Amino acid sequence: MRRVGIFPGYFDPPLKCHLDAAETVMNKYALDEIIFAPIIAGREEPKDSSGYADRVCMCIASIVGKKNMRVMSRETPSGLLPTLKWLRKSCADARLFCVMDCSLFSGAMEKLAGKNACRNIVFICPQKNGDETEITRQNAMACGLDMEPLACCSMDEAESDARHTVFSLNDPECMPAGALKICALKGLYIQDHYQEVKNGMSEHRWQHTLGVRGSAVDLAEKYGGSLIKCAVAAFYHDCAKDMNPKDMRKILLDHGADSHDEILHSGAMMHGPVGAILAEEKFHVYDKEVLDAIRYHTTGREEMTLTDLIIFVADAIEPNRQKYPGLNAIRALAEIDLYAAALYALYETRDYVVERGKIFHLAGQRTIAALEARFGNDRHPDPAVMALLREKSSVFH
Ligand SMILES: [Fe+2]
Ligand SMILES: [Fe+2]
Repeated sequence: MRRVGIFPGYFDPPLKCHLDAAETVMNKYALDEIIFAPIIAGREEPKDSSGYADRVCMCIASIVGKKNMRVMSRETPSGLLPTLKWLRKSCADARLFCVMDCSLFSGAMEKLAGKNACRNIVFICPQKNGDETEITRQNAMACGLDMEPLACCSMDEAESDARHTVFSLNDPECMPAGALKICALKGLYIQDHYQEVKNGMSEHRWQHTLGVRGSAVDLAEKYGGSLIKCAVAAFYHDCAKDMNPKDMRKILLDHGADSHDEILHSGAMMHGPVGAILAEEKFHVYDKEVLDAIRYHTTGREEMTLTDLIIFVADAIEPNRQKYPGLNAIRALAEIDLYAAALYALYETRDYVVERGKIFHLAGQRTIAALEARFGNDRHPDPAVMALLREKSSVFH
């Protein structure tokens, strides 16, 4: 007889401990399959909650590569009892198990008692500290429900902790990589200024912004950066780009810029620092690493952080970028070495400016010098990287 488990929950967001609980139950009860069933409603939604479709998406991303696990999505009935009815109907000749957070089970027990849908279902309840598991088990027995506790982490509290961690622009360690990536790409659990940012720029710039966010998250994943910080920095990096230069200049002067500073003469240079000011004052981003990455995304700086580099390079290579001469080389370098990709992108900008008879800004020159010094006489171990850099600078000959 097939043995099928269902795992209803909010998964807001899905956590590693959900996966661990699923694996443990699979092994302990020799299940053939376990089905994650994100619940649509039935609770007072926390203020920072994500929508049902996003939770389904995160669940699907969490179980990629996991054998015998799947997620109920389109066909999901809205509540717990209809979900169990669905399970009984669609797995008519299987032995059925239901994995449920102990507190969720306690809350639902009265509704489940005596219902045909619950007949012969074993409720396996991951328990957390403070749960009165034995009392719950006895109460369940009195209601005719078969409940067994399972030693596990605290799921409900951990979900709200994870949401809080993302809100403060950090990557929660307790989230599976796939779910964290969806969370970063969709901007879940952070302050939502989606419409305001979109309205403040042209459609072209908006598409570029989303492209940069996607590339930044990919690079963060590849190079071990913070997915959430990079996604947020990318989201706001050009929030000032379509502003009038006069207004940008005023904002910078009001914030203490020196009136002789070279950046005040170029809209292209001003939008980084002005974007950082807007991100903080208008969009309430207070994370220094994120604000710095926005501030320095056009010029770079001498000591670039990993987040700076990721935003700088993502800005240059995002998929919506129109073709420009060095694009393929920068994309290739981004696969091997972020510093080399950033350096090549700066060379490209410098050459473009100089070819038009203009002067390349000092800030960029300083970043180039700092990046060149990084490679110094220790040539890059990858000859392909050196070959590309040599095309652009005699320093490497
Ligand atoms: Fe920009
Ligand atoms: Fe940009």
